[in-house]
Amino acid sequence: MTEVRLPENRIPVIRVPASPADANPGGSIFGGWIMSYVDVAGSIPALDRAQGPVVTRAVESFEFKQPVLIGDLISCYAKIISEGRTSIKVDVEVYAERRKGAVKQCIKVTEAVLVYVAIDGDHKPRALPAK
Ligand SMILES: CC(C)(COP(=O)(O)OP(=O)(O)OC[C@H]1O[C@@H](n2cnc3c(N)ncnc32)[C@H](O)[C@@H]1OP(=O)(O)O)[C@@H](O)C(=O)NCCC(=O)NCCS
Repeated sequence: MTEVRLPENRIPVIRVPASPADANPGGSIFGGWIMSYVDVAGSIPALDRAQGPVVTRAVESFEFKQPVLIGDLISCYAKIISEGRTSIKVDVEVYAERRKGAVKQCIKVTEAVLVYVAIDGDHKPRALPAK
């Protein structure tokens, strides 16, 4: 297991603890629980860039590198890596902080790339506003 620190000089868009209700029978956290937070996390810089509503169009990659365990505090970091006329591609990294007594580990658990599309009032693609 690779131990790392939380990224310096970056602010997570979401931090949330993993609860027993989010666990599968094997004792680790459901992938779908993590995926939903990754989707929300990625949408935050996309909403900001689009200056209005966006929808998730595609998940280009999604890697569960390490399990998330009950009690972990997950932090999601999201950054725009490219954009087109209506679409915004966002990289999301998820880290878990895990306490064992006085010792705190930090583990990169998930990385994903998602594509969001800005939409208008008719749910049709909308050109991104000029920067
Ligand atoms: C998002 C939606 C409005 C786009 O409509 P569309 O007819 O596919 O529009 P387009 O083909 O013009 O594609 C729009 C943009 O998405 C990009 N795109 C389309 N499919 C893609 C894919 N599989 N991967 C990456 N980008 C993709 C296009 O390249 C285009 O980007 P650009 O304008 O920056 O060049 C429509 O697909 C939709 O409503 N999907 C459902 C969204 C949803 O419900 N998400 C889940 C809940 S948020």
